Amino acid sequence: MGLAVIFMLHGKRVLLIISGGIAAYKSLELIRRLRKNGLAVRCILTRGGAQFVTPLSVSALTEDKVYTDLFSLTDEAEMGHIRLSREADLVVVAPASADILAKMARGLADDLASTALLATDKPVLVAPAMNVRMWQHAATQANLTTLLERGVRFVGPDEGDMACGEFGPGRLAEPDEIADAITAYFGDASPLAGRRALVTSGPTHEPIDPVRYIANRSSGRQGHAIAAALARHGAATTLVSGPTNLPDPAGVDVVHIETAQQMLDACQAALPADVAVCAAAVADWRVAEMAAEKMKKTKGKLPSLDMAANPDVLAALSAAGNARPQLVIGFAAETENIIANAETKRASKGCDWLLANDVSPDSGTFGGADNTIHLVSADGVEDWPRMSKEDVADRLADRIAAALENAA
Ligand code: CTP
Repeated sequence: MGLAVIFMLHGKRVLLIISGGIAAYKSLELIRRLRKNGLAVRCILTRGGAQFVTPLSVSALTEDKVYTDLFSLTDEAEMGHIRLSREADLVVVAPASADILAKMARGLADDLASTALLATDKPVLVAPAMNVRMWQHAATQANLTTLLERGVRFVGPDEGDMACGEFGPGRLAEPDEIADAITAYFGDASPLAGRRALVTSGPTHEPIDPVRYIANRSSGRQGHAIAAALARHGAATTLVSGPTNLPDPAGVDVVHIETAQQMLDACQAALPADVAVCAAAVADWRVAEMAAEKMKKTKGKLPSLDMAANPDVLAALSAAGNARPQLVIGFAAETENIIANAETKRASKGCDWLLANDVSPDSGTFGGADNTIHLVSADGVEDWPRMSKEDVADRLADRIAAALENAA
């Protein structure tokens, strides 16, 4: 296994569900291989699975607790089934019996394994193992179709002699084959492995006095989604964010700042990076001198504020000389002459790509869940269909991975 692959797999977390079947003994070898590849493996053993392998052997190999019973109060207190299924990068069911496939297809949740499978928001890879007639039964095949349509991945079953004396498809794939399918999954999911990404998000707050500030309505949704997507694509990602109501995205190093100057300082400290995406709505101005004490009302007199220009983070990163990220990307909110304005802005900021964001009143972008993007670069303009901010983030991460790969 190459160094790049070892780096990509290191620390990735697999939740392995071992369901009932004579092939369960092979799951022990699978755990051994996954651990050797640097993966962290946590196991759920179904009641059926526990008839074939013992919790003790599974626990010894995973060097972790084994989860077996949905209604164990201690387990639930230590690690609820929701957390169990979400604190993994990939859920693997090996061996998967006909019964667990049926439960997955139907959405049943009557034990810890099926509950975790219903609660997970993570990709699932299944290695079925069962008698050939059970595998070929119309019910199992219909369940297979349902699960494939939902994006569940499968490895095997293989064809061969079965423990029950019959011959045909239904044998659990060999541990090597399952381990390879897991490596391939992480390879597909990590086109930015080994890359560093920097993202800005949210508004900035520019203080007027100790209790008042200038801000804007940016929610930070788009920037946070981009940071999460880059991390999911394998990049070591730093998110420099102004105040938002959003949780820190999983797997992202988040630096919380308030002002434009702090955002610039934090971005410069986060360099070097291969790619920078400036999605923050940075305040263009700040009050030249913040009042040391809370400003008091004076009858008949309105306060006047002396303003100063804030640093432009996007322009500064684009002009960072040797430290300039290879790919610098900015956003522009436009209501008219979208492409022409975006082209002018790309040139004036010195960035490589500008994502022009149609915020005209009938676009529904402001405060909405969707975005309509035009990607303006030296190669021309790409018009993206209207899509959710999460889909924009995924598509952008894919485009970034392709661009860095081409430039390599
Ligand atoms: N930007 C920045 N620092 C600033 C101002 C803007 O990093 N002080 C970045 C934003 O994160 C965004 C892009 O520059 O990527 C937006 O540029 P901006 O000039 O603010 O354009 P608009 O917000 O579209 O506003 P306007 O057209 O009014 O200039």
